[in-house]
Amino acid sequence: MAQQEDVFKKIVSHCKEYGFVFPSSDIYDGLGAVYDYGQNGVELKNNIKQYWWQSMVLLHENIVGIDAAIFMHPTTWKASGHVDAFNDPLIDNRDSKKRYRADVLIEDQMAKYEDKIQKEIEKAQKRFGDNFDEAKFRATNERVLENQKKYDDLHHRYQEVMNAEGGIDLEGLKQIILDEGIVCPISGTRNWTDVRQFNLMFKTEMGSTADGASTIYLRPETAQGIFVNYLNVQKTGRMKLPFGIAQIGKAFRNEIVARQFIFRMREFEQMEMQFFIQPGTELDWFQKWKEYRMKWHQNLGFGAENYRFHDHDKLAHYANAATDIEFHMPFGFKEVEGIHSRTNFDLSQHAKYSGKKIEYFDPETNESYTPYVIETSIGVDRMFLSIMCHSYEEQQLPDGQVRTVLHLPAALAPVKLAVFPLTKKDGMPEKAQEIINDLRFHFNCKYEEKDQIGKRYRRMDAIGCPYCVTVDQQTLEDNTVTLRDRDTMEQKRVPISELRSIIEDKVSITSLLKKLL
Ligand code: GAP
Repeated sequence: MAQQEDVFKKIVSHCKEYGFVFPSSDIYDGLGAVYDYGQNGVELKNNIKQYWWQSMVLLHENIVGIDAAIFMHPTTWKASGHVDAFNDPLIDNRDSKKRYRADVLIEDQMAKYEDKIQKEIEKAQKRFGDNFDEAKFRATNERVLENQKKYDDLHHRYQEVMNAEGGIDLEGLKQIILDEGIVCPISGTRNWTDVRQFNLMFKTEMGSTADGASTIYLRPETAQGIFVNYLNVQKTGRMKLPFGIAQIGKAFRNEIVARQFIFRMREFEQMEMQFFIQPGTELDWFQKWKEYRMKWHQNLGFGAENYRFHDHDKLAHYANAATDIEFHMPFGFKEVEGIHSRTNFDLSQHAKYSGKKIEYFDPETNESYTPYVIETSIGVDRMFLSIMCHSYEEQQLPDGQVRTVLHLPAALAPVKLAVFPLTKKDGMPEKAQEIINDLRFHFNCKYEEKDQIGKRYRRMDAIGCPYCVTVDQQTLEDNTVTLRDRDTMEQKRVPISELRSIIEDKVSITSLLKKLL
């Protein structure tokens, strides 16, 4: 575990050192849980967004995109339930003065029991090798049974307090924390305050205060911008059910427990798609979208074992199915995307609060109804983090050296090709520039002439550049260059005229998209 934490720390520093992610307002020592993307980060982020957008809008004839404003009419958030219910249950430790989410403290405690079980299983697996029968071991091993019971009891109690009539039972939550003996990680004490609800929306004012400014919110999700535009898009696009509306944009949440770098931020970006369907078909569509979204993730080649679904026990009152796609981060399996069957809750609420009829006339059944919705909602920043975590490697080389390399999927890499003149003379820089001038229209290229070639390779490995080309004396004679592969470090001699055809297909988003069909 400690080793994994070290790796994570290294990834965070790597992100800063190589221009991927900086703390916001760094010269003023940063701003809590707010980050800026640097020169390489923004390219990677844009490529992630492009991969998502094109997989939704380009590959689906019945999905269109929009770009709604961040500020919305304040009644939007009353209708969506965010004003009344977008809360986190918080608890303070009186000794450390630190504030925590009570539900997260309990979920962490459940994860500890799961970890203990997992460790027993791994130990036994090593001992028994191929003869190991996990199901039997789980059913008979005393320590596993003991921890499983603790987990089940806690899980049951937790469900009860989270789903209590009239909302979360705050006293019940505190009682669990006390009964489980959960201590503050900073002070180590159990000196807890009561649990209180805290709304996560940021407020600001529109208009001058003198003439009666109104309070508005920074949107906590992009989804509502889609719901309030349902009629506009359906009518102007003459869309027929089933159809989807996709959007990428910023969202803001006043997260109290902001941790793990860009995993939980106060300003972040979402890629959301609301798919409008006929009532009664939602569980089929939910299943289809679950499968498609998992395929989208696994298409990046990080290995199926690093993903899992986490079906929700606790459903929001308007949802009739919900699952998370979790990715194996250095700090455990964590949610990257949520897929929710939201019934007709949002559209009905907006119809009620706006007084507008929000319905679909179905020409096939001659009926009007409020469509049901399947939502897929993924955080760009979490996706970014999962890609960084999986790609980062400190690789031991045969000559005893260690190189830090980012094995980014080539289609997402910020720079696709680096071109180096071997020396700064004999027309080599000019030849290198010529190659770049020709290829820059097709993919992102970078020119580098400083330091020895070995150092230049290392710098490119560190930003995940899949290909490097060196222009040398022979190039000037026969127009060939050495092409070096980031992952295998193999070099081969190729004609300049073939560079585009060798590289373009491998580094294009299209190559990823084709594998989705
Ligand atoms: N419209 C549904 C919705 O917003 P959510 O589960 O609250 O659902 C969806 O958020 C996704 O947005 C999450 O799976 C996560 O990737 C991302 N996300 C949510 N809160 C975040 C935060 N504070 N920082 C970074 N990403 C966040």
